[in-house]
This record gives sequence, structure tokens and C-alpha cells, in this order.
Amino acid sequence: MRGSLLLASLIGLAVAEDGLAAWLRYARIPGGKCHRKKLPSAIVTLNATEGLPVYTAGQELAEGISSMFGKKLTLEESGTDADVPTVTVGTVGAYSESGGDVEDLPELIEDGYYLHISGGDVLILGQNERGALYGTFQYLARLAQGKVSDESFASNPDAPVRWVNQWDNLRDGGTHGSVERGYGGDSIFFWDGKIRDDLTRAGQYARLLASIGINAVVVNNVNANETILTEENMDGLARIADEFRPYGIQLGLSLNFASPQTLGGLDSFDPLDETVIEWWQGITDSLYERIPDMAGYLVKANSEGQPGPLTYNRTLADGANLFARTLQPHGGIIMFRAFVYDHTSLNQDLDWKADRANAAVQFFDGLDPQFEDNVVIQIKYGPIDFQVREPVSPLFAHMRETGSAIELQITQEYLGQQAHLVYLAPMWKELLDFDLRVDGEDSAVSDIISGKRFNNKLGGYAGVANVGHNTTWLGSHLAMSNLYAYGKLAWDPSSEPVDILEEWIKMTFGHEQEVIDVITEMSMESWPAYENYTGNLGIQTLTDILLGHYGPNPASQDGNPWGQWTRADGDTIGMDRTVLNGTGNAGQYPEEVFEMYENIETTPDNLLLWFHHVPYTQVLKSGKTVIQHFYDAHYAGSAVAQSFVPRWESLKTKIDAERYEHVLFRLVYQAGHSLVWRDSINNFYFNKSGILDEAGRVGNHPHRIEAEDMELDGYRTYLVSPFEAASGSLCIVTADNSTQGTASTKLDVEAGTYNVAVNYYDQAIGNSTWELYLDEELVGKWHGDLEYELGRAPSPYIDGHTAARITFKGVQVESGSILRIVGTPDGEEPAPVDYISILPEDVID
Ligand code: GCU
Repeated sequence: MRGSLLLASLIGLAVAEDGLAAWLRYARIPGGKCHRKKLPSAIVTLNATEGLPVYTAGQELAEGISSMFGKKLTLEESGTDADVPTVTVGTVGAYSESGGDVEDLPELIEDGYYLHISGGDVLILGQNERGALYGTFQYLARLAQGKVSDESFASNPDAPVRWVNQWDNLRDGGTHGSVERGYGGDSIFFWDGKIRDDLTRAGQYARLLASIGINAVVVNNVNANETILTEENMDGLARIADEFRPYGIQLGLSLNFASPQTLGGLDSFDPLDETVIEWWQGITDSLYERIPDMAGYLVKANSEGQPGPLTYNRTLADGANLFARTLQPHGGIIMFRAFVYDHTSLNQDLDWKADRANAAVQFFDGLDPQFEDNVVIQIKYGPIDFQVREPVSPLFAHMRETGSAIELQITQEYLGQQAHLVYLAPMWKELLDFDLRVDGEDSAVSDIISGKRFNNKLGGYAGVANVGHNTTWLGSHLAMSNLYAYGKLAWDPSSEPVDILEEWIKMTFGHEQEVIDVITEMSMESWPAYENYTGNLGIQTLTDILLGHYGPNPASQDGNPWGQWTRADGDTIGMDRTVLNGTGNAGQYPEEVFEMYENIETTPDNLLLWFHHVPYTQVLKSGKTVIQHFYDAHYAGSAVAQSFVPRWESLKTKIDAERYEHVLFRLVYQAGHSLVWRDSINNFYFNKSGILDEAGRVGNHPHRIEAEDMELDGYRTYLVSPFEAASGSLCIVTADNSTQGTASTKLDVEAGTYNVAVNYYDQAIGNSTWELYLDEELVGKWHGDLEYELGRAPSPYIDGHTAARITFKGVQVESGSILRIVGTPDGEEPAPVDYISILPEDVID
């Protein structure tokens, strides 16, 4: 591969492996020359217009085949000499007009394609232009995976709605376009309250998305800013749509329900008020004047402080239909979010039956028949909020006359924020395959959203992607498998996550079997590992839900109206969602599913604490108690994360240095942070329950030296909050912001070679420097600058978000050596240190 990359660079192809090209690198195919005879020599695009997908398909074929095989193809507009092997691409209609035989073509639905490969003669026909481009990308993807065999098949999308949502802000603090829950940098669309002048990245994004079958992108945050609708910004949106159009991607827009008042100057935003309706019609008309192919709208209403129809005692259907009707003359659709709940008044102490998980079904109760035909209810996969494990939302079983879409989150808000490797397709697949047994009949979620189960015309998928301006798009090369898999599952939910992954690896990292095997294995183990060390048995991701949604802080789940409760006390834990004693949430599911979840015996262990409130000593189906399962799972999960580092290192010579180092950095960080998770959660529940770990690990760390136990000069001890985010609850910080601190201790270990790990805190309020010495020799020096390297939510605090670990391997230690750490504070960051571990080979304490 290296040789071919060198060749590629000599002939002037883009080879910077910075991630920008993602899976569309079109890298040289090993031994590609031998395949040239099986490739076309000419490209015919039927009825191609520059700026539309069939034209793009021609360009893509020329570039792809030249880049992968070094074969230059000629581009023709009509037929070629019969002897010249030709790839012909166009719509079925254009093919028929050009005299092609369409009699025996398989049936194609909207966006579908037919691909016929016979040596170098290739026919790619789309039901529409977009379909032709999809077929082209499919052909190129096959080539990129080294598949040159003859093949003939048709492929149709499983569902019509295959959208991506971006939570991009026009403004953040008045200055720039940030991305809410985005970990890959600033918005590719917005800057300083306006649409960017340079939209190159918008076009590149559209290209990636088209290659996986996505057909629309909502460009702005669901927490929408009404200024998206100023004349100037509407003009800017038209420029984004122009970048998207060559790839068949349509533009969608999030709306702020109160815009008629806040932007339009009306005194109301009542959805039944005539002036309000007129105002929205005017806006919609002027958007469609600029963007005739606009996909439609996305609306978050009456949720988390967003305005909505309930303000005027109107129903959610009144709200959705307002937009639906303005869109109808233009053929647009409205994605209306089911994520409606009241985050201000839920109180777990006053009401044992209060439950945020009940909100969606309650709010939408009885509305199903009232929605206009072009409304789709966009439902988050679970009843709460993108947790590491949730049952599917019961609302999917309640929407029969109205189409629904599943909202998945590609950006890993509660799942490690792209600083932890978590391949999400296996989770999505479980959700999509889940059979809700509506009316006792087969009712897989994928069949409900595709419209098959209830004969809905509309429905499908919304993936919250939140890519940013980084060349890696999501902030991590490995996280891009999630974006790829999202598109592939939305097109065909019967696909297997592991197959999707292997395809993606081949195109992203090359064909070497070892590379494929290692990345496949790591990725497939990553979600279970993350679930194990962050929140298992259905308790949710035990993160800080009030700050950042990143590091551990189980106590933050309870005692507030956000409703992500665990109801943990000294003896018991879990939400009782039974009908018999609890919140009744299990009763929102169809009979067979209700019975499974209502009964503790039939509830799967991995959702036990989602549906039941039990003692820590409750025995699971595995035979372990809940508390012992917690301890063991946190150890097991973090051990898997430790293993990612050497596994990745084994690929060092097989992956380009730029991406190798980028990934390695994250995996090393993840290995350290998984220990922070393990210890925080275990300490927290040990402290609550007082029940010892049978294996004696929790609270017992023989290889650690607590910083607060060292001799301190210029450092002082500091009580960390939450307590469990520090080993022994304490860390050390410099006495003030301007003087160095020193912590030293005499080592009581046998002479030998050790790995020396330092657990410290890297806050986003300065870049402290730490130096580690053994006797007078410098072992290592590092800076607290993770906030520049990792896109995860920045935090100013000393807590589970900022806790980090650095390890120096193979350090020669003498018995009685003096270990000294010198911390130099910077800004507001006081060079905090939690503990130091002197670890014999292969020991993780
Ligand atoms: C989560 C997320 C918010 C987001 C919200 C939503 O709560 O943390 O940032 O706005 O979901 O989906 O609307």
C-alpha cells in the first residue's frame, strides 16, 4: 500500500491521509493493473446536466477509476463504439429515450438503482438521478473493495426518509458557528450568525452522504435560532442547497416555533392564528423560491425550553400541521420531533409514578389520526435520550396512521464523544430488529418506520451526525464507521453491522487482512465494553447529565427534574416502570412486550434496572448479584479498552503515520479514561451500598501512591467533587496560580522495570505542565492541553470529565528512589494530580 501511495503522490493525486476523503479515498487497488481489462474505457452519461447527480456520477467514475486503477476513461454524452467497453449511467427514463431496453428491468422505487456489470460493460440506471448516483457509488465501492466480478442486481431503499441532522448553531456566544454536541470542530455551514462564504466542505459532506444513500441534511440545530430566516440567511441557505444538489442531497431546516413573534414582529405564534399561518406561508414560499427542491422542516417544540403550540393550549398536531400545510404546495415534509417532555416539574421524591420515559406517548396520545399526510414523527430510539442502552421507544407502536422515523445519534453524546471508540451499528441493529408485536403480529421497528407495517407513505431515519470543520469530520477516524453504517442501515436494515464495518475498513484503511481483522474486532467489542464501564443492566450511561454528558457522575442523574433517574439509595437501585407498582411505562408497550418487561423474570438482564427497582443483592440470570455484576462489568469493560492500545499498535507499519498516530492518541486516552470510569462508578456504588467486591478489587489498589499522601511543597490537598472522581476522594493542586508545586515520595518497591502511570486532571482553563522525576532524572514532561486534542466537551472542573492518565512505559526503578512530580500551573489550572501507579509489567491497578 505504501508503494502505491508513493506512486499516487508522484502522479499528483491527493494522498494526505488527514481523513477528509473518509471512505471515498479511491486508493490504489493492490494489483489493480491486472484488473484493467475488466474495467470500462469510456463513460456515457445519459442526459446529464452539470450540477445534477448524473453529471456528478460521470465525474466520480472518471476520478474513481483513474485513482484506483490508473486508467483514464473518456467521458461521452451518447453511445460509444460497440467495441469500447463502456459504463453507461443515467435514469431509467433517459435510458429508454436513448433506445435502451427497459422491458426486463427489475422494479425500482424512488432513489433505487439497477447495476449490471459484465466485464467492462457496465449499466447503472437510477429510478431518478439520485438513484443513478447511488448506483455509481455502489459500483465504485465494489471496485474499491477489489470486487471486479460480473454482477447484476437492483437495490431499493428500505425507507424514503434517510436524513442527517446537524445541530449547528448560527451563533454561540455571539461569535461563531459551534455545533451542539459536536466533537469535530466548528460548523461547516455557519460562522458569525451567517452562512459561510466558503462552502467547500458542505459539498464534500454531500458527496460522502450521497455515497451511503442519504437524501437530505437538516443543516441547523433543533434548538433553532430564528435568524436562520432573515433574507440574507435564506440567500445563504440557497448557496448550501447549490452545493448539495449535484449529489442529490436536499436541504432541510430546523425552525423555531416562536419565529413569527421573535423575527416577524407579530404579537403571537399561535399555530391557529391567521396572521401566524400567513407569516409561515410567506417564509415557506420564499424559501422554495430560492430552493425549489428543499426537503422540508424539522421542528422541536415544547421541549427543553423550546416554544411550541402548547403555549397556546393547542395540540402538537396543530403545531405540526401548521408547517405541513405551508409545505404541501411545494411537496415538502415536516419532521416533527416526539422528544417532548417537561424538564421543569418532574419530581421523583413527590411522585413515585413520575417518569420522563412516559412523556412521548402521553403527549402524542390520541393525535395519530390528526396529522397531515406530509408529517413524519421523528422519535428518538429510546424513551429517554440516546443512552448506552434503552428499550425502543413505545411510541413506535402508537403511530399507525402517521409515518414515523427513528432518530439515531451518530455523534457520541452519551457514548464517549468520539474520544472513546464505540461502534454503534450493533446497537442500532438491535433496535431496528426489535419486534414490538403490535396487535400480536410481527412488528419490527424497521418495518414500522419504513412504512411497511402500517402502510405509511412516509417514514425512515434521522441520524444526528454533527460533523465539524476538522478534516476527520467527527474528530476521530474510527468514529467515521458510525456515519458510514448509519447510511448503510438506513438503506438496508437487514445488513449486518460486521459486514458494513469490513467494507468501511477496506475503503478507509486498505485491504490488508490484519488491518481488517484488528479494526473489526476492536470495533465490534467497543459498544459492549463501553456499556460495561459506563452503565450496565439498563441503568443508563452514568455520566454527568448536568454538565457535558461525558465523564462519570452517577449522582447527577437523580434529584433533579431532568428525569434520567436511577433511584439509587443505600439498599436498592433502578426505576420501577411496572404497571403493578411503578410508573406504568411498561404498559405503554404492546401486550407481549409489556408482559416481558412487567415481569422481572422475563426482563432481560441488560434492561433490568430500566424496568425494575431492586436490591443490590438481587440475583441476575447470570447468578451474580446486581452489585457484583456492576463491579465485574466495570473491570471487564475497562480491560477491553486497555487491550485496544496494543492491538492498534500491532498495525503500526500497516497504516499511514498521520492516521495511526491520531487514532493511537485517542485509544491511549480512552484506556486511561475507562479506568476513571471503572473506579468512579465502583467507588460510588460501594460507598452507597457498603457491599464489598467479592474479588477484593474495589477500593484496594496496591500499586498506587495517592498524591495527597506524598510530601507536598507548594501543593495542597483538594477535596474533589464528585468524590468518586478521585482515588481516595482527594487530589492535590498548587497552592496558587503562579507558583510551582512539588510532591515527592520515597518508593517502597523492589528494583526493576515498571510502567509508571500518573492520573491527573486536565481542565480547559489553562495548560499546566507536569514533570515527573525519578531521583534527579526526568522521566517525562507533559502539558494539560487535551482540550485542543480531543473534541469532547471542555470542562473547567476537577472531575470525571477532566480526569486523565499518562503512562511511561518500561521505567527502570531502584528501591528507595525518590519519585517527584513538579506541577507548574497555568491560567486557572492548578496542575492537579490524583495518584501515581508503579506498575509491574501487565498489571493495571
Ligand atoms: C439532548 C441533548 C441536547 C439536545 C436534545 C435534543 O438532551 O443533550 O443537546 O438539544 O437532546 O435532542 O433536542
